[in-house]
Amino acid sequence: MRNPKILVLSGSSRAASINGKLAALAAKKLALLDASTTRLSLKDYPLPIYDGDYEDKNGQPDNAVKLHRLFSENDGVFIACPEYNAGITPLLKNTLDWISRVSGSGEAFKGKVFAVGAASPGGFGGMRGLIGTRTILEVGLGALVLPQMVSVARASSAFDDKGDLVDERTAAQLDGVVNALLRATRIELSH
Ligand SMILES: Cc1cc2nc3c(=O)[nH]c(=O)nc-3n(C[C@H](O)[C@H](O)[C@H](O)COP(=O)(O)O)c2cc1C
Repeated sequence: MRNPKILVLSGSSRAASINGKLAALAAKKLALLDASTTRLSLKDYPLPIYDGDYEDKNGQPDNAVKLHRLFSENDGVFIACPEYNAGITPLLKNTLDWISRVSGSGEAFKGKVFAVGAASPGGFGGMRGLIGTRTILEVGLGALVLPQMVSVARASSAFDDKGDLVDERTAAQLDGVVNALLRATRIELSH
């Protein structure tokens, strides 16, 4: 059986993004466990805000088609997403909306295993936003979202110089998510 292919992205494209740091650490851990890991930045796939008139006139943008293909080619996806006003970022929501409009070969969401995490400078670690992300992926898009989640509170000081998590409990939480994602994708691959 081949190693699982996992796509890793952040719902923030900010250069100094703390969710980017969480995504980078998840990608490092997945690669160390022999997953074939692809790290993607949404900055490289700019998309207009979804608009039905735009789509009627122009169809789906090339970047939406490219992202649909990338999601389809992978067995699992890890998303680190900031919480904006207790919800998902407009960047990630718009990206998911556009991908959902592409009807290329392969499935971008259905039957795919997703794991989600968040980092926030606040004390709740973006947990409220994660609930919304889960609803969109599961209820809206038909993906399987693992119950294990990682939530990094006070994230401005949560990572050391090497990009590892300082707090042992949070680090163990991320390990649990990464291991669950690999386990679940391996089970899917064995079917
Ligand atoms: C519009 C907006 C709304 C925000 N709402 C929340 C919030 O509800 N909860 C929270 O913990 N942080 C909130 N924040 C703070 C973000 O967590 C913080 O800016 C974080 O660094 C963004 O993630 P990033 O560093 O990965 O870009 C908000 C930030 C913005 C810009």
